[in-house]
Amino acid sequence: MVGIVFVSADGGEREVEAPVGATVMLAAIRNDIRGIDAECGGSLNCATCHVYLDPACLPLVPGPSHDEAALLAHVSAERRPTSRLSCQIAIAPGLPRLRVALPEHQTCPF
Ligand code: FES
Repeated sequence: MVGIVFVSADGGEREVEAPVGATVMLAAIRNDIRGIDAECGGSLNCATCHVYLDPACLPLVPGPSHDEAALLAHVSAERRPTSRLSCQIAIAPGLPRLRVALPEHQTCPF
């Protein structure tokens, strides 16, 4: 299990545990984290699972694929250099605790 700290837009924090093989998005949905809509269920079609990965965590996970990077152009909240789609951040063996911040809003652009 890997700990994931979700920081809401108002600064509140909640840590959940995610199993290897899950994604940050699945951990959010399974633990009722507000701010992750994930309308497409993780099929890289909605951009409503947008998060800001803590800069210290960037080297811990593989960077976005071409398709994820393209979809990040359509997120509804401000896009930042640390923006990721949480359905594309896999919980891999040995991954240390992650920290992600949630945007103020999520809206499917399609
Ligand atoms: S859940 Fe739809 S793009 Fe991530």
